Amino acid sequence: MKTIIGNWKMYVGVRESVALARGMLYALRGKKIVPHVVICPSFVALSDVRKIITRSHVALGAQDMFWEETGAYTGEISSRMLSELAVSYVLIGHSERRHSLGETDEMIGKKVQQVFRSGMTPVLCVGETAEERAQGKTQEIVEQQLHQDFAGVEYPPASELFIAYEPRWAIGTGMAATPQDAVVMHQSIRGWVKEIFPSIRDEQIHVLYGGSVDGANAYAFLREKEIDGVLVGGASVKLTLMQEVLSAAIEAMEGEAHQSS
Ligand code: 13P
Repeated sequence: MKTIIGNWKMYVGVRESVALARGMLYALRGKKIVPHVVICPSFVALSDVRKIITRSHVALGAQDMFWEETGAYTGEISSRMLSELAVSYVLIGHSERRHSLGETDEMIGKKVQQVFRSGMTPVLCVGETAEERAQGKTQEIVEQQLHQDFAGVEYPPASELFIAYEPRWAIGTGMAATPQDAVVMHQSIRGWVKEIFPSIRDEQIHVLYGGSVDGANAYAFLREKEIDGVLVGGASVKLTLMQEVLSAAIEAMEGEAHQSS
């Protein structure tokens, strides 16, 4: 199974989000093999998008969440609020929040813990900057992020865990990592996650690639066994591109089914 997550960032408002959600359902209609699809609209569009995707295979995700359940935290959104809207996935530690909004590993760890506590599934985003990559520190940085973000986090035994490897230099730049580089990172990420949570089973860990994924390159990532899916930003708010990404996932899954038969 491949997972496709659309992170709609702050690109579209309520009306466009509803139209996009409808378009995605239409693109998946009648397909025999369907990837696991999660869409992450802005907070203000969650409620309307939820109505469109109820009773479909598409799941709802949020782009962030605060670590307390209730209280005097102006502007923040809690797990309780998201649960009311049937949100089941939450992006945590996105590069844009780490780098533009000063989100620290400590804050990210508290958010991951709260996502687990509330029975939702976190999609933790990690990745190095261009400078760190140029210094040959990619592995070191990502390993450090995972250790720091999960420090003290208790892993609920039945939970799923999604990690999105999103190198900062690849986000929104049109310069995606190569599938080969992503595969190497994904193998390392799996290993580190197993070190951190020794009781986690292989099938509970899903490692996705993100950063300039579009209709043209999605298949090259998705055909790799080590790449469990993709996290798509800019292309996910352009219906034709997203339809291409979904088709690439279906093609990759058909290939997998063929190999295992
Ligand atoms: P782009 O697909 O626009 O590069 O963004 C990736 C991303 O940040 C998804 O979370």
